[in-house]
Amino acid sequence: MKIKQHKKRIFSGVQPTGNIHLGNYLGAVKNFVKLQRLGNETLFCIVDLHAITVWQDPKVLQSSIRELAATFIACGLDSKKSVLFSQSQVSSHVELAWIFNCVARMGWLNRMTQFKDKAGKNKENASVGLFAYPALMAADILAYHATHVPVGEDQKQHLELTRDIATKFNNDFQVPNFFPNPEPIIEQIAPRIMNLRDGSKKMSKSDTSDMSRINIQDNKDLIALKVRKAKTDQEPIPEDIVDLEKRPEANNLINIYASLIDCTPKDVLTEYCGQPFSNFKPKLAEVLVSELGPISKKINQLLEHPDEIDKVLNEGAIKAKKISEPIIKDTYKILGLSNNISN
Ligand code: TYM
Repeated sequence: MKIKQHKKRIFSGVQPTGNIHLGNYLGAVKNFVKLQRLGNETLFCIVDLHAITVWQDPKVLQSSIRELAATFIACGLDSKKSVLFSQSQVSSHVELAWIFNCVARMGWLNRMTQFKDKAGKNKENASVGLFAYPALMAADILAYHATHVPVGEDQKQHLELTRDIATKFNNDFQVPNFFPNPEPIIEQIAPRIMNLRDGSKKMSKSDTSDMSRINIQDNKDLIALKVRKAKTDQEPIPEDIVDLEKRPEANNLINIYASLIDCTPKDVLTEYCGQPFSNFKPKLAEVLVSELGPISKKINQLLEHPDEIDKVLNEGAIKAKKISEPIIKDTYKILGLSNNISN
């Protein structure tokens, strides 16, 4: 088999498990839009098969998939420039995931911190899918021979595992460079947006308190309330980054502001140093509302035409299959498996 050099191809995924929050937006989706704008070849996937590693109500899941597609588009992803689709529409993902289940080692998956966090104390009761989740994620990326993956910092370990799987496969079957070693692209200012009530935890969809996160569709009043109630400390805004970094909640709010207005945290400190957070918070709420308000409005408009959203996803799936199916075919050939793909 001819081993070709991999061209730059960007892939990322988001789970359709309810509301997209500010962490997903600043840590991932906003970066997707930037990468698309730079003219890269980009694929963005709604990873619905990952979502079912924990229980999902089928009716809710279906509308969450459309909602996430609408969110992608409302944030600036354009189906003419990027391939937008859902994972379950392209069987290459599950086909390659099975193969990777046979490549990845139990010890590797046992070390995944996200599994430990999600399974909690009741590991015995977690689904096998939740355990094998990172092998499916590796399949998502490598089914397209993607070379770059924009993600938040929390996905770094999964990306390392993807590289380990790619390397082991290439070595085991002596196909140097068949699968690329994909690089994460992690946003510098917003690699990890933290929980508004506890600066030691990341902002997450699964936190029981809605006050801990800003959802992309929160209205103006709710955003203002959540920012006002966000935990800070008594100290004014410092002048030095070193002093800010010792204060996790304060650091988080400054980083959010910097990321929203595309400047550095140091620029924000220069503008606000010496001021109390009670002065800064209304400014933060203002930039949040001006960024998220139009997105929210657009999501609602798009959701009025669900058939158009489905059309975008169907067309995206056709394009995604065109890229991934020949790669799966080659993978089968390498493994000595049947070379025929039925669909
Ligand atoms: P998910 O759906 O949990 O999150 C989607 C993206 O949002 C980022 N993110 C954050 N970034 C900064 N601060 C936060 N508090 C924060 N919370 C979430 C995540 O890092 C992610 O980039 N396993 C992935 C989905 C996935 C995937 C893939 C990603 C499946 N297959 C292939 C890339 C490539 C996940 O659970 O993301």
